[in-house]
Amino acid sequence: MSKSQRESFHWRTSIAYKTQPKIVIRGYDLNDLVGNLDLGEMAYLVWRGELPSEAHGRMLNAIMVCLAEHAFSPSSAAARFVTAGGVPLHVGVAGGMLTIGDLHGTFDRPCAMFRDGVARAKAEGKTLEEMADTLVREAREKKKRLPGYHHPQHIQDPRSQRLVDVARKLGVAALHTRLALLMEDATERLHGKRIYINAVGVSGALLADMGFEPELAKGVMLVSRCISLVAHVYEELTRERGWRASKGQDITQPLDLELQKPEFYDGPPDRPLPAEWRKL
Ligand SMILES: CC(C)(COP(=O)(O)OP(=O)(O)OC[C@H]1O[C@@H](n2cnc3c(N)ncnc32)[C@H](O)[C@@H]1OP(=O)(O)O)[C@@H](O)C(=O)NCCC(=O)NCCS
Repeated sequence: MSKSQRESFHWRTSIAYKTQPKIVIRGYDLNDLVGNLDLGEMAYLVWRGELPSEAHGRMLNAIMVCLAEHAFSPSSAAARFVTAGGVPLHVGVAGGMLTIGDLHGTFDRPCAMFRDGVARAKAEGKTLEEMADTLVREAREKKKRLPGYHHPQHIQDPRSQRLVDVARKLGVAALHTRLALLMEDATERLHGKRIYINAVGVSGALLADMGFEPELAKGVMLVSRCISLVAHVYEELTRERGWRASKGQDITQPLDLELQKPEFYDGPPDRPLPAEWRKL
């Protein structure tokens, strides 16, 4: 295509358009959605392009409720430290969001693993039981941790079974969730102890059963946790003093110098700057 044939710039999207008098989202007038959809159903429509079935809408809401708040985790702790620097609410929230990765809130990795596992079982003519064993064995041989399993604070995550129960009641749990639970069984055989699936792992499996691709599954985590980060940052702004080192507080602050004594330092010993570096 020559430069003269190029169209003048315009955005390209299948999500929404607006004119002076109206806003249309995935084909629906926004005002028809307002008052009729809950936030989970709206998220499903915006992300997937279609209205959810009742079961999928309820399951997505249940996952978002489950993952919205989790007391002190990397994201809430980071959001509070960022806020302690004296930044506005949205900056503190963004700071917390940056912790969502391979070890915290990793919805995408288990979602991808279960999708690949179910596809591989079909391609290789294996049962899900056999594939569960294969995936756990392969990870163990490569010394890799299974994404979506174990929780450093709970060990057996109290949220996991509730999500599975809700999914079964709604008829949402299918092959990916079955594989996920079979993998938990397989850990007992191959690790000699049960490594429990966590809420992030169950969510990844359920979202795979609902047809979510891994990156969109991660989006579900981001939006859910954003709700709680607003609360943590707001509380930090209104209840705490900032910086987090003050001796004038009734709780020892995390940046108090008492907690970072010179004897905890294990870098090079104190030493003089070499003479050739002393320019002033
Ligand atoms: C989150 C995580 C870093 C926590 O690790 P931790 O509490 O420091 O765990 P530990 O290193 O104490 O592990 C305890 C034991 O369980 C094993 N283990 C922990 N998580 C495991 C996993 N996901 N897969 C396989 N084995 C795991 C460890 O190998 C260790 O075994 P050992 O005692 O025989 O050495 C780790 O569980 C992990 O990487 N999980 C996958 C990512 C994930 O799902 N994150 C979301 C958490 S909500």
